[in-house]
Amino acid sequence: MGQKKNDPRLEVRLGPLTMKNPVIAASGTFGYGEEYASLLPVGSLGGIITKGLSLGPRKGNPPPRLAETSAGMLNAIGLQNVGLEIFLREKLPFLRKVRCLVFVNIFGSAAEEYAEMARRLSEAEGISGLEVNISCPNLKAGGAIFASEAKSVHQVVAKVRRATSSFLMVKLSPNVADIVKIARAAEEGGADAVSLINTLTGMAIDVKTRTPLLGNITGGLSGPAIKPVGLRMVWEVAQAVHIPVVGLGGIMTAEDALEYLIAGASAVEVGSAHFIDPRAGLKIIEGIQNYLIAHEFPTVASLVGSLKIRRDRS
Ligand SMILES: Cc1cc2nc3c(=O)[nH]c(=O)nc-3n(C[C@H](O)[C@H](O)[C@H](O)COP(=O)(O)O)c2cc1C
Repeated sequence: MGQKKNDPRLEVRLGPLTMKNPVIAASGTFGYGEEYASLLPVGSLGGIITKGLSLGPRKGNPPPRLAETSAGMLNAIGLQNVGLEIFLREKLPFLRKVRCLVFVNIFGSAAEEYAEMARRLSEAEGISGLEVNISCPNLKAGGAIFASEAKSVHQVVAKVRRATSSFLMVKLSPNVADIVKIARAAEEGGADAVSLINTLTGMAIDVKTRTPLLGNITGGLSGPAIKPVGLRMVWEVAQAVHIPVVGLGGIMTAEDALEYLIAGASAVEVGSAHFIDPRAGLKIIEGIQNYLIAHEFPTVASLVGSLKIRRDRS
């Protein structure tokens, strides 16, 4: 595959950051980057987002933690991760050497924990920004999910904002009634960008045994099945906020990524596609470039939000 790197046509801006192309590896589907280093030149991506990180290490949920569904997959990993200390000591050295942007995905069980993570990570070298995963239970609020209430989204983002001057991208959950309200709350709290969507809550049952396919009973649905939901949400949010929107959910091909860009995403993340083809991101970059050339778009930015709405039907 003819990898074309550093083409100015592919360069995108995410607020203060410049990315050499618009394709980022999504959290939880690309490990800590190093796991993929023997399979592809990971620095050829626009950016990498690490597996969700918490202050202390977490073991995650009981198995089985993955299940295939039609046009997608369910996961209930339970945010298993090595914890901040081991990340800084053992994972960050590799990421410092990677020649693309590196975002650390963080989560916590209270706003203070998010803020502490942000503060500690912004003291570390080699991190381009943070992706704040708010799809987690707020233990202080009796287990309510941060992401589902505009007020708690504002609160956690504002707290993180006060703790760091690092680039902050807030990752939104689709499991909400009004995504626009939540995105605005993140923007008002001080987010530099929003990324959406995280997985949709779902479940699957083995009818032979009448047991759930996942140890956790429910899990997060990802893959092609969720692309129409992600696209619709990105389209709505991009019109409502003034910060960049990063789109994801079911991107398997360059055409999927192009749909998100046309809907208003300034960049995209590729997730579950990595489980089918670790080089999916690279192929998507090449496909986007070919499209820009064929359709005479001078930059990715000139394509972003270029959706044409037909108004000729009465
Ligand atoms: C196995 C797996 C683990 C994931 N872990 C995380 C995580 O730690 N933090 C996070 O914000 N999102 C996590 N996600 C969600 C993905 O980053 C992404 O939002 C979602 O899968 C939708 O994109 P996709 O359809 O391209 O996979 C995970 C997804 C999968 C499939």
